[in-house]
Amino acid sequence: MIKTLEWKNNKLIIVDQTLLPGTIQYIVCNDYRRVNLAIKRLEVRGAPALGAAGAYALVLGLQELINSNKTIAANTLKNKLKLICNEIISTRPTAVNLSWAVELMQQTFIQELSFSNDFPKILAILEKKANSIFAQDIKQNKKIGRNGAAVIPPNAVILTHCNAGALATCGFGTALGVIRQAHFEQKVKMVYVDETRPLLQGARLTAWELQEEKIPVTLITDSMASWVMKTKKVDCIITGADRIAANGDTANKVGTYGLAVLAKQHGIPFYIAAPLNTFDFKLTTGTKIPIEERAPEEITFIADKQVAPLNIKVFNPAFDITPSKYITGIITEHGIIQKPYKQNIKALQTLLKEDV
Ligand code: MRU
Repeated sequence: MIKTLEWKNNKLIIVDQTLLPGTIQYIVCNDYRRVNLAIKRLEVRGAPALGAAGAYALVLGLQELINSNKTIAANTLKNKLKLICNEIISTRPTAVNLSWAVELMQQTFIQELSFSNDFPKILAILEKKANSIFAQDIKQNKKIGRNGAAVIPPNAVILTHCNAGALATCGFGTALGVIRQAHFEQKVKMVYVDETRPLLQGARLTAWELQEEKIPVTLITDSMASWVMKTKKVDCIITGADRIAANGDTANKVGTYGLAVLAKQHGIPFYIAAPLNTFDFKLTTGTKIPIEERAPEEITFIADKQVAPLNIKVFNPAFDITPSKYITGIITEHGIIQKPYKQNIKALQTLLKEDV
């Protein structure tokens, strides 16, 4: 399994996902600004991976502030770090894992600062915290995998969208973690993968991850999903999530909502797989989730070739929101949440704080 990101010698090393699967190339970030750029360009992407990248970006930012001014006052350091945190969080608005991780790091910093002004020591504590966010994510994904595999029938035909695999996380994956575990248990007959326009995370990343692990995979275009549901005896659909509201409404890669509606029409169970840090307990409904809109060129160009007329008006939301009524279950590291979502999600809220 390829390493999505790695913290080594005070640098964050990221595999450039925009070049996969053709080229495996690493970006060495020794500056938080380079991590921010990598997030904006989708060189690193996927909600849990964004959380870990954001945590390490904060470590790089703090490292820079301390090294550039050895006599910096605690209050100045705190204010400057806050600005850096805001910059990191603003790189991508939809995946709540990013703000969750950065805010957790910032809280740890403030707490440590109230005990001591030994900045190098605080930096070391924050580095440890970022490592723990990273390691926890892999552990959680493995639990999600085991919990989710329990609902996969033998000889299963599964459909997935976007990439919720090792590449979207610190390792193993959420939706692909379930598929990976079900494959270990010899339950997977076929995984249909939507190519996932406009940026083809399904075709480039998920198809590649599954092929590398010799998990049976068939690539389809997004518009073929309904026909595949109708004709290929799909047993279940599993996707990841970028943010889940307190009522279970779920933001994920654009196209997920359509799949969920189609699944209902065809009587196919529709599952979301995500760790607790993808829940935004403050948001009462999905309508309040911010949806990132991205550059028109992502649609008007395929690779480097312009395919649409010049100056055409474009709408390019990167995510959509699936109302919870279409979701059969949300597979988490603490088990599968089902309806009534509001009540059952609330019951999990306290566990999030205990996790890292
Ligand atoms: O724009 P992306 O590639 O970051 O979108 C990723 C997704 O929508 C994933 O499905 C989601 O982050 C879950 S990843 C485990």
